[in-house]
Amino acid sequence: MKIFIDTANINEIQMANDWGVIDGVTTNPTLIAKENRDFNEVVREIISIVNGPISLEVISIQSEEMVNEAIKMSELSTNVVIKIPMTPEGLKAVKILNARNIKTNVTLVFSVNQAILAAKAGATYVSPFIGRLDDIGHDGMQIVRDMVTIFNTYNFQTEIIVASIRHPLHVIEAAKAGAHVATIPFNVIEKMFSHPLTDAGLNKFLSDWKKVPK
Ligand code: E4P
Repeated sequence: MKIFIDTANINEIQMANDWGVIDGVTTNPTLIAKENRDFNEVVREIISIVNGPISLEVISIQSEEMVNEAIKMSELSTNVVIKIPMTPEGLKAVKILNARNIKTNVTLVFSVNQAILAAKAGATYVSPFIGRLDDIGHDGMQIVRDMVTIFNTYNFQTEIIVASIRHPLHVIEAAKAGAHVATIPFNVIEKMFSHPLTDAGLNKFLSDWKKVPK
């Protein structure tokens, strides 16, 4: 399973990239807004750090405008993937962009049916938002399991990005389900490192080492 980092924060992206654990980046308008910085400047910096897919979201809602936005953003780097909302207009744009070899990530996916339609339209990626489903009392990960089964059965080429991840258990469940990608917030990646036995073990090794005659 590939790991993307779900943030537009340059320090977080730089750190996770230095750790060697990320294969790409996903952003959305909320994550970009949090940075309170010029959009193009942020994107240029992300592109200079990460050598992998970088999802940037359109803000238009009509297909023609989405396509125009997508073409402009895709000129920034061959690594740019265009995030398109899961709407009829969005899928129209996906079809056009697919024909132009521009990669897409269909976002705001909350059902298996939506994922099937996105795959049929030619999406490169589809992003089920599992945390937001859990938030309203659904089992978000179940739609990921069903998508993996269906996509494998029919050999769909669209990759499943498990999005809206809230904690490390979501990452394990995404991997067990056979998702292609998990896009993970920085704080969850940090938590994936932690184990009290690692800390205790390291402290013991370091204190014992001090007793070695040198
Ligand atoms: C990534 O593609 C999504 O935009 C993101 O994971 C949504 O996460 P949230 O539900 O925590 O906002």
